[in-house]
Amino acid sequence: MRAIQFTQYGGPEVLTLVGDAPEPSAGAGAVRIRVHATAVNPFDYKVRSGMMARGAALAGPVILGLEASGVVDQVGQGVTGVAVGDAVFGLGPATYAEYAVLRAWAPKPERLSFAEAAALANGGETALRVLGLLALEPGQVLLVHGAAGGVGQAIVGLGVVAGLRVIGTASEANHDLLRELGAEPVAYGDGLVSRVDQLTDHVDGVIDAGGTQLDELLAIAGSPDRVVSIANYAARDAGVRFSGGGGDAMEALARVSELAAAGRIAVRVARAFDLAEAADAHRLSESRRASGKIVLTVA
Ligand SMILES: NC(=O)c1ccc[n+]([C@@H]2O[C@H](COP(=O)([O-])OP(=O)(O)OC[C@H]3O[C@@H](n4cnc5c(N)ncnc54)[C@H](OP(=O)(O)O)[C@@H]3O)[C@@H](O)[C@H]2O)c1
Repeated sequence: MRAIQFTQYGGPEVLTLVGDAPEPSAGAGAVRIRVHATAVNPFDYKVRSGMMARGAALAGPVILGLEASGVVDQVGQGVTGVAVGDAVFGLGPATYAEYAVLRAWAPKPERLSFAEAAALANGGETALRVLGLLALEPGQVLLVHGAAGGVGQAIVGLGVVAGLRVIGTASEANHDLLRELGAEPVAYGDGLVSRVDQLTDHVDGVIDAGGTQLDELLAIAGSPDRVVSIANYAARDAGVRFSGGGGDAMEALARVSELAAAGRIAVRVARAFDLAEAADAHRLSESRRASGKIVLTVA
Protein backbone atom coordinates (compact mmCIF):
# COMPACT_ATOMS: atom_id res chain seq x y z
CA MET A 1 0.00 0.00 0.00
CA ARG A 2 0.98 3.66 -0.32
CA ALA A 3 2.30 5.19 2.88
CA ILE A 4 4.61 7.88 4.14
CA GLN A 5 7.49 6.38 6.09
CA PHE A 6 10.95 7.22 7.36
CA THR A 7 13.95 5.00 8.00
CA GLN A 8 16.16 7.51 9.84
CA TYR A 9 15.42 10.34 12.24
CA GLY A 10 15.80 13.84 10.86
CA GLY A 11 14.07 16.82 9.27
CA PRO A 12 10.88 16.72 7.18
CA GLU A 13 12.93 15.53 4.19
CA VAL A 14 13.27 12.03 5.71
CA LEU A 15 9.54 11.46 5.02
CA THR A 16 9.25 9.31 1.92
CA LEU A 17 6.24 8.14 -0.08
CA VAL A 18 6.46 4.39 -0.71
CA GLY A 19 4.10 2.13 -2.66
CA ASP A 20 4.92 -1.19 -1.05
CA ALA A 21 4.35 -0.78 2.70
CA PRO A 22 2.79 -3.89 4.25
CA GLU A 23 -0.96 -3.63 4.85
CA PRO A 24 -2.03 -3.90 8.52
CA SER A 25 -4.89 -6.20 9.61
CA ALA A 26 -7.59 -5.49 12.15
CA GLY A 27 -6.82 -7.50 15.28
CA ALA A 28 -9.31 -8.28 18.05
CA GLY A 29 -11.20 -5.21 19.23
CA ALA A 30 -10.08 -3.05 16.31
CA VAL A 31 -11.27 -2.06 12.83
CA ARG A 32 -9.29 -1.41 9.67
CA ILE A 33 -10.20 1.52 7.43
CA ARG A 34 -9.44 2.53 3.90
CA VAL A 35 -8.04 5.91 4.89
CA HIS A 36 -9.53 8.99 3.23
CA ALA A 37 -7.70 11.57 5.33
CA THR A 38 -5.31 11.70 8.27
CA ALA A 39 -4.20 14.62 10.42
CA VAL A 40 -0.69 15.84 11.19
CA ASN A 41 -0.02 16.41 14.89
CA PRO A 42 3.00 17.93 16.71
CA PHE A 43 3.66 14.45 18.18
CA ASP A 44 4.48 13.30 14.62
CA TYR A 45 7.37 15.71 14.11
CA LYS A 46 8.59 15.03 17.64
CA VAL A 47 8.83 11.31 16.74
CA ARG A 48 10.29 11.97 13.27
CA SER A 49 13.05 14.20 14.66
CA GLY A 50 14.15 11.50 17.14
CA MET A 51 13.21 13.68 20.10
CA MET A 52 11.04 10.92 21.62
CA ALA A 53 13.62 8.13 21.05
CA ARG A 54 16.09 9.09 23.81
CA GLY A 55 19.01 7.90 21.70
CA ALA A 56 17.55 4.49 20.75
CA ALA A 57 18.09 3.44 17.11
CA LEU A 58 15.20 2.80 14.72
CA ALA A 59 14.27 -0.88 14.43
CA GLY A 60 12.78 -0.47 10.94
CA PRO A 61 10.68 1.84 8.79
CA VAL A 62 8.19 3.97 10.74
CA ILE A 63 4.80 5.13 9.50
CA LEU A 64 3.56 8.13 11.47
CA GLY A 65 0.01 9.25 12.26
CA LEU A 66 -2.37 9.14 15.23
CA GLU A 67 -5.80 9.75 13.72
CA ALA A 68 -7.72 9.26 10.50
CA SER A 69 -11.09 9.08 8.82
CA GLY A 70 -12.20 6.58 6.21
CA VAL A 71 -14.41 3.62 5.43
CA VAL A 72 -14.28 0.39 7.43
CA ASP A 73 -13.05 -2.57 5.37
CA GLN A 74 -12.21 -5.09 8.15
CA VAL A 75 -13.86 -5.65 11.51
CA GLY A 76 -11.78 -7.38 14.17
CA GLN A 77 -12.91 -10.15 16.49
CA GLY A 78 -15.27 -9.06 19.24
CA VAL A 79 -16.16 -5.74 17.64
CA THR A 80 -19.86 -4.86 17.52
CA GLY A 81 -21.83 -1.84 16.36
CA VAL A 82 -19.84 -1.17 13.22
CA ALA A 83 -19.79 -2.85 9.80
CA VAL A 84 -17.74 -2.94 6.62
CA GLY A 85 -18.69 0.13 4.57
CA ASP A 86 -19.33 2.45 7.55
CA ALA A 87 -17.68 5.88 7.44
CA VAL A 88 -15.81 6.49 10.70
CA PHE A 89 -13.05 8.58 12.24
CA GLY A 90 -10.80 7.61 15.08
CA LEU A 91 -7.46 6.96 16.73
CA GLY A 92 -4.82 4.45 15.75
CA PRO A 93 -1.18 4.15 14.83
CA ALA A 94 0.46 4.53 11.40
CA THR A 95 -2.36 6.49 9.78
CA TYR A 96 -0.25 8.23 7.07
CA ALA A 97 -1.20 5.31 4.81
CA GLU A 98 -3.85 3.86 2.52
CA TYR A 99 -5.03 1.44 5.23
CA ALA A 100 -4.87 1.88 8.99
CA VAL A 101 -6.12 0.05 12.07
CA LEU A 102 -8.14 2.10 14.57
CA ARG A 103 -8.23 1.22 18.29
CA ALA A 104 -11.07 3.68 18.94
CA TRP A 105 -13.58 5.14 16.49
CA ALA A 106 -17.01 6.73 16.08
CA PRO A 107 -19.36 7.42 13.17
CA LYS A 108 -18.23 10.21 10.83
CA PRO A 109 -20.81 13.00 11.14
CA GLU A 110 -22.43 13.37 7.72
CA ARG A 111 -22.12 17.15 7.76
CA LEU A 112 -18.31 16.87 7.97
CA SER A 113 -15.96 16.11 5.11
CA PHE A 114 -13.50 13.25 5.57
CA ALA A 115 -10.77 15.91 6.02
CA GLU A 116 -12.69 17.58 8.84
CA ALA A 117 -13.49 14.24 10.46
CA ALA A 118 -9.82 13.21 10.33
CA ALA A 119 -9.05 16.26 12.46
CA LEU A 120 -11.61 15.49 15.19
CA ALA A 121 -10.32 12.51 17.12
CA ASN A 122 -7.03 13.47 18.78
CA GLY A 123 -8.09 16.99 19.74
CA GLY A 124 -11.54 15.87 20.87
CA GLU A 125 -10.34 12.94 22.96
CA THR A 126 -7.54 15.00 24.52
CA ALA A 127 -9.88 17.91 25.27
CA LEU A 128 -12.47 15.74 27.02
CA ARG A 129 -9.73 13.97 28.98
CA VAL A 130 -8.15 17.16 30.34
CA LEU A 131 -11.48 18.90 30.95
CA GLY A 132 -12.48 15.79 32.93
CA LEU A 133 -9.33 16.09 35.08
CA LEU A 134 -10.16 19.69 35.99
CA ALA A 135 -13.84 18.82 36.59
CA LEU A 136 -15.05 22.44 36.46
CA GLU A 137 -18.71 23.36 36.95
CA PRO A 138 -20.79 25.39 34.47
CA GLY A 139 -20.08 29.09 34.91
CA GLN A 140 -16.53 28.55 36.16
CA VAL A 141 -13.61 30.21 34.37
CA LEU A 142 -11.17 28.19 32.26
CA LEU A 143 -7.98 29.58 30.73
CA VAL A 144 -6.69 27.65 27.71
CA HIS A 145 -3.06 28.41 26.85
CA GLY A 146 -2.38 27.85 23.13
CA ALA A 147 -6.10 28.02 22.38
CA ALA A 148 -5.87 28.54 18.60
CA GLY A 149 -3.97 25.30 17.96
CA GLY A 150 -5.48 22.06 16.75
CA VAL A 151 -6.06 20.79 20.28
CA GLY A 152 -6.62 24.22 21.82
CA GLN A 153 -9.61 24.82 19.55
CA ALA A 154 -11.17 21.52 20.62
CA ILE A 155 -10.65 22.40 24.30
CA VAL A 156 -12.28 25.79 23.75
CA GLY A 157 -15.24 24.26 21.88
CA LEU A 158 -15.85 21.52 24.41
CA GLY A 159 -15.31 23.94 27.31
CA VAL A 160 -18.01 26.23 25.90
CA VAL A 161 -20.35 23.22 25.46
CA ALA A 162 -19.72 22.40 29.14
CA GLY A 163 -20.98 25.87 30.07
CA LEU A 164 -17.61 27.28 31.10
CA ARG A 165 -16.46 30.84 30.60
CA VAL A 166 -13.40 30.27 28.41
CA ILE A 167 -10.45 32.63 28.05
CA GLY A 168 -7.88 31.59 25.44
CA THR A 169 -4.32 32.73 24.76
CA ALA A 170 -3.32 33.20 21.13
CA SER A 171 -1.45 35.49 18.76
CA GLU A 172 -3.36 38.66 17.88
CA ALA A 173 -4.08 37.28 14.40
CA ASN A 174 -6.13 34.44 15.94
CA HIS A 175 -8.24 36.54 18.30
CA ASP A 176 -11.27 36.75 15.97
CA LEU A 177 -11.06 32.98 15.48
CA LEU A 178 -11.22 32.46 19.26
CA ARG A 179 -14.19 34.81 19.54
CA GLU A 180 -15.99 32.76 16.85
CA LEU A 181 -15.37 29.64 18.94
CA GLY A 182 -16.89 31.36 21.98
CA ALA A 183 -13.72 32.27 23.91
CA GLU A 184 -12.38 35.59 25.14
CA PRO A 185 -8.95 36.03 23.55
CA VAL A 186 -5.83 37.30 25.27
CA ALA A 187 -2.29 37.53 23.88
CA TYR A 188 0.33 35.18 25.33
CA GLY A 189 3.84 36.47 26.15
CA ASP A 190 5.10 39.12 28.58
CA GLY A 191 2.33 40.71 30.63
CA LEU A 192 0.00 37.70 30.40
CA VAL A 193 -0.91 37.72 34.10
CA SER A 194 -1.98 41.37 34.11
CA ARG A 195 -3.92 40.98 30.85
CA VAL A 196 -5.87 38.07 32.33
CA ASP A 197 -6.41 40.12 35.53
CA GLN A 198 -8.10 42.78 33.42
CA LEU A 199 -10.61 40.21 32.13
CA THR A 200 -11.44 38.35 35.34
CA ASP A 201 -10.78 38.45 39.09
CA HIS A 202 -10.23 34.69 39.22
CA VAL A 203 -9.52 31.64 37.04
CA ASP A 204 -10.77 28.24 38.22
CA GLY A 205 -8.70 26.05 35.93
CA VAL A 206 -5.89 26.29 33.38
CA ILE A 207 -5.13 23.91 30.52
CA ASP A 208 -1.65 24.32 29.09
CA ALA A 209 -1.56 23.36 25.42
CA GLY A 210 1.09 25.98 24.66
CA GLY A 211 3.97 24.53 26.67
CA THR A 212 5.36 27.93 27.72
CA GLN A 213 5.01 30.46 30.58
CA LEU A 214 4.46 27.89 33.34
CA ASP A 215 5.19 30.44 36.11
CA GLU A 216 2.57 32.82 34.74
CA LEU A 217 0.01 30.01 34.38
CA LEU A 218 0.61 29.02 38.01
CA ALA A 219 0.20 32.63 39.12
CA ILE A 220 -3.08 32.88 37.19
CA ALA A 221 -4.44 29.62 38.60
CA GLY A 222 -3.26 30.32 42.14
CA SER A 223 -2.43 26.63 42.77
CA PRO A 224 -0.71 23.84 40.76
CA ASP A 225 -3.70 21.52 41.22
CA ARG A 226 -5.78 23.85 39.08
CA VAL A 227 -3.41 23.43 36.13
CA VAL A 228 -3.22 20.50 33.69
CA SER A 229 -0.54 20.47 30.99
CA ILE A 230 -0.48 18.44 27.79
CA ALA A 231 2.55 20.20 26.32
CA ASN A 232 5.18 20.65 29.03
CA TYR A 233 6.58 17.52 30.76
CA ALA A 234 8.64 19.74 33.09
CA ALA A 235 5.41 21.11 34.57
CA ARG A 236 5.30 17.96 36.73
CA ASP A 237 8.28 19.28 38.70
CA ALA A 238 6.04 22.16 39.81
CA GLY A 239 3.29 19.79 41.01
CA VAL A 240 1.18 20.23 37.85
CA ARG A 241 -0.63 17.22 36.40
CA PHE A 242 0.63 16.21 32.95
CA SER A 243 -1.86 14.20 30.89
CA GLY A 244 -0.55 12.06 28.06
CA GLY A 245 -3.34 9.51 27.63
CA GLY A 246 -5.68 7.19 29.47
CA GLY A 247 -9.43 7.25 29.78
CA ASP A 248 -12.09 5.68 27.58
CA ALA A 249 -11.32 6.87 24.05
CA MET A 250 -14.37 5.09 22.53
CA GLU A 251 -16.69 6.94 24.88
CA ALA A 252 -14.93 10.26 24.21
CA LEU A 253 -15.13 9.84 20.43
CA ALA A 254 -18.82 8.92 20.61
CA ARG A 255 -19.47 12.21 22.43
CA VAL A 256 -17.31 14.19 20.00
CA SER A 257 -19.12 12.59 17.05
CA GLU A 258 -22.56 13.47 18.48
CA LEU A 259 -21.59 17.07 19.22
CA ALA A 260 -20.02 17.57 15.78
CA ALA A 261 -23.07 16.01 14.09
CA ALA A 262 -25.28 18.47 15.97
CA GLY A 263 -23.06 21.39 14.89
CA ARG A 264 -22.16 22.15 18.52
CA ILE A 265 -18.41 21.86 17.97
CA ALA A 266 -16.51 22.74 14.83
CA VAL A 267 -13.10 21.83 13.52
CA ARG A 268 -11.04 24.22 11.48
CA VAL A 269 -8.88 22.51 8.90
CA ALA A 270 -6.15 25.10 8.44
CA ARG A 271 -4.72 23.37 5.38
CA ALA A 272 -5.07 20.08 3.55
CA PHE A 273 -2.09 18.58 1.72
CA ASP A 274 -1.87 15.54 -0.52
CA LEU A 275 -0.30 12.50 1.21
CA ALA A 276 2.78 12.92 -0.99
CA GLU A 277 3.29 16.43 0.46
CA ALA A 278 3.74 15.18 4.04
CA ALA A 279 7.13 16.92 4.36
CA ASP A 280 5.56 20.33 3.61
CA ALA A 281 2.77 19.54 6.06
CA HIS A 282 5.40 18.84 8.74
CA ARG A 283 7.17 22.14 7.97
CA LEU A 284 3.90 23.98 8.56
CA SER A 285 3.20 22.01 11.75
CA GLU A 286 6.66 22.74 13.14
CA SER A 287 6.21 26.45 12.47
CA ARG A 288 3.36 26.39 15.08
CA ARG A 289 1.58 28.89 12.88
CA ALA A 290 -1.13 26.73 11.27
CA SER A 291 -4.05 28.10 13.36
CA GLY A 292 -5.89 24.80 13.23
CA LYS A 293 -5.51 21.24 12.09
CA ILE A 294 -3.29 20.15 9.22
CA VAL A 295 -4.67 17.28 7.16
CA LEU A 296 -3.22 14.86 4.61
CA THR A 297 -5.67 13.68 1.97
CA VAL A 298 -5.12 10.04 1.11
CA ALA A 299 -8.02 8.95 -1.12
N1 LIG B 1 -0.48 15.03 26.02
C1 LIG B 1 -1.43 14.81 25.13
O1 LIG B 1 -2.30 13.95 25.29
C2 LIG B 1 -1.44 15.65 23.89
C3 LIG B 1 -2.41 15.45 22.92
C4 LIG B 1 -2.43 16.32 21.82
C5 LIG B 1 -1.46 17.32 21.72
N2 LIG B 1 -0.50 17.44 22.67
C6 LIG B 1 0.52 18.51 22.62
O2 LIG B 1 -0.17 19.76 22.80
C7 LIG B 1 0.52 20.78 22.10
C8 LIG B 1 -0.44 21.53 21.20
O3 LIG B 1 -0.89 20.65 20.16
P1 LIG B 1 -1.67 21.24 18.90
O4 LIG B 1 -2.01 20.11 18.03
O5 LIG B 1 -2.74 22.16 19.36
O6 LIG B 1 -0.49 22.10 18.24
P2 LIG B 1 -0.59 23.21 17.11
O7 LIG B 1 -1.84 23.03 16.32
O8 LIG B 1 0.72 23.22 16.43
O9 LIG B 1 -0.80 24.56 17.92
C9 LIG B 1 0.24 25.18 18.56
C10 LIG B 1 -0.32 26.47 19.16
O10 LIG B 1 0.69 26.95 20.01
C11 LIG B 1 0.57 28.33 20.04
N3 LIG B 1 1.86 28.91 20.36
C12 LIG B 1 2.90 29.18 19.53
N4 LIG B 1 3.89 29.74 20.23
C13 LIG B 1 3.44 29.83 21.53
C14 LIG B 1 4.00 30.35 22.72
N5 LIG B 1 5.23 30.88 22.75
N6 LIG B 1 3.24 30.28 23.86
C15 LIG B 1 1.99 29.76 23.85
N7 LIG B 1 1.42 29.26 22.74
C16 LIG B 1 2.15 29.32 21.60
C17 LIG B 1 0.12 28.75 18.66
O11 LIG B 1 -0.75 29.85 18.85
P3 LIG B 1 -0.91 31.07 17.80
O12 LIG B 1 -1.09 30.40 16.44
O13 LIG B 1 -2.12 31.78 18.25
O14 LIG B 1 0.36 31.86 17.88
C18 LIG B 1 -0.60 27.52 18.13
O15 LIG B 1 -1.97 27.75 18.02
C19 LIG B 1 1.68 20.08 21.37
O16 LIG B 1 2.84 20.17 22.16
C20 LIG B 1 1.23 18.63 21.29
O17 LIG B 1 2.29 17.72 21.17
C21 LIG B 1 -0.48 16.63 23.76
